[in-house]
Amino acid sequence: MHNLINQIHCELLPQIQLESLEPHNPIVVHYLPQPWQLLGIGNYAAVVSHPDYGNLVVKIYAPGRPGFEEEVEVYRRLGQHPAFSECFYAGQGFLILKRLQGVTLYDCMHRGIKILPSVIRDIDQALHYARSVGLNPHDVHGKNLMIAQEKGLVVDVSDFLKLEACSAWEDLKRAYYCFYLPVLSRLPMRFPYRLLDLIRAVYRFYRRAWRRDLD
Ligand SMILES: Nc1ncnc2c1ncn2[C@@H]1O[C@H](COP(=O)(O)OP(=O)(O)O)[C@@H](O)[C@H]1O
Ligand SMILES: [Mg+2]
Repeated sequence: MHNLINQIHCELLPQIQLESLEPHNPIVVHYLPQPWQLLGIGNYAAVVSHPDYGNLVVKIYAPGRPGFEEEVEVYRRLGQHPAFSECFYAGQGFLILKRLQGVTLYDCMHRGIKILPSVIRDIDQALHYARSVGLNPHDVHGKNLMIAQEKGLVVDVSDFLKLEACSAWEDLKRAYYCFYLPVLSRLPMRFPYRLLDLIRAVYRFYRRAWRRDLD
């Protein structure tokens, strides 16, 4: 771990180039030094791994994006729980987290991997636990959820200190039981990313139109 922290300070942070173009869209990674690998991006941060530390990831906030201290506090409250990652170290603007070896629900739709009802129940239980330690699940959507060994995991907890209500998970569950389970899951369908992003854009439009919570 000590070595990893050194490499982050000496190699990764001085060279990586991240930019947040719009707050409601994923950040852009302009440059990532060797041998780091990009595992994913979100609206706040990039998540990378080093081949010598396969069980860990480094989540680096893009310059100017808020929420780093809050995410550290969320992980402090969550402690150890099988449905969440765990924070082992927090430096300036970056966290070292347990790697979750799974596929996001978003990528499951793209790759045609079936999402079982037990996954939805796992996530419900995980969110129940988060509430029991004083957190408010927020922004729980397909890119922030994963399936690993058929278990549902919550990969992104960065907004769990926000106080306002968020209907994303209830909306996703409704879509799962109304459309996905009875219809889509029976078809051998893969969704192109462009279609998934269109669904996301239409969902955001309607949520805003109904003046419901949306950050
Ligand atoms: N602990 C982790 N293990 C493996 N992959 C992760 C982990 N955390 C994040 N990722 C990947 O990186 C992506 C972006 O991370 P996320 O925490 O959602 O960032 P943001 O807070 O910017 O939305 C996720 O969708 C996921 O693909
Ligand atoms: Mg995210």
